[in-house]
Amino acid sequence: MAMIDCFGETSDVAITILVDNRADLIVESTETVKVFTDKPLLAEHGFAALVELQHVGVRILWDAGITSIALPENMALMEIEPQSIDVIALSHGHHDHTAALTAVIQGMALRPKARDWEPGSGEDEMVRHARGRGVAVVAHPAALRERWRRKKNGGWYGPIQPPPRLEWEAAGAELVLSEGPYKLGPGCWTTGTVPRLSFERSGIPKRLFYRDGETFVPDHTEEEQAIVINVREKGLVILSGCAHSGIVNTINHARRISGVNRVWAVLGGFHLARANQDELDRTIGEVKKLDPQLVSPTHCTGFYPICRFAAEMPDAFVPCAVGLKFLF
Ligand SMILES: [Fe+2]
Ligand SMILES: [Fe+2]
Repeated sequence: MAMIDCFGETSDVAITILVDNRADLIVESTETVKVFTDKPLLAEHGFAALVELQHVGVRILWDAGITSIALPENMALMEIEPQSIDVIALSHGHHDHTAALTAVIQGMALRPKARDWEPGSGEDEMVRHARGRGVAVVAHPAALRERWRRKKNGGWYGPIQPPPRLEWEAAGAELVLSEGPYKLGPGCWTTGTVPRLSFERSGIPKRLFYRDGETFVPDHTEEEQAIVINVREKGLVILSGCAHSGIVNTINHARRISGVNRVWAVLGGFHLARANQDELDRTIGEVKKLDPQLVSPTHCTGFYPICRFAAEMPDAFVPCAVGLKFLF
């Protein structure tokens, strides 16, 4: 994938963690990381974030948690109206990133309500009303796969239902499938498919398959992508979902497509919970070399790998938790 000519830049971005594995009410605000609320937010094994390009008023929902409970509850506690979201994007199709999406889209009330129209009402106005507002859900086509898990005893678990596309569409969303980068706002794109060129293997599922007709094909979660934002005078802010493609691969791909080398911040799931020592050492080494101002590995990164980032990048490391608002 070559560089995008018109990648663009933004003057600022705010990333608010809406769902994460960890909640923490005793964090102190700093200049770049604000505590959004002191209300009791819910944590779960899932991820969701709100990306705001404040100067242009674009609000992007990134992923949707593992239950239909935490995301709507946390948004309500943080007074983030579903109707205020302009576009939704998904890192991949796993359940811990998609479960609350139907509830959020329904909360947007996109479908128009029937109402009376006076004689002489303009057809233009009636047609505009009938169309409703519409909101795009940007996803990689492989995110919609039906998956199966091979059990250790040789049996199978499945079918694991694909994300409920029909429910989203029935609630008024429009699915936008894109294998490559997709523009979400000025200087803000999904990465599209991340080429897997590095040593990283720990994010690749070993026993997951998808069904292609009557054939079961190993599923490596090829759809996994991140959001990359080019912030003026700073550099790239990279927000991952689970990083099944490898966080180093993801960062390098973000640099390639944007043509920007400087990495300002990396946050989200790094999927290192089951990485061996060598892979973990090399991953931390590569991230460290880039010298980002902020690194906040969370969700599926794993407790020990998070501690290693904290120990080896003490100035950049921020422990993530639901309700934090990162300002860049
Ligand atoms: Fe995942
Ligand atoms: Fe995940």
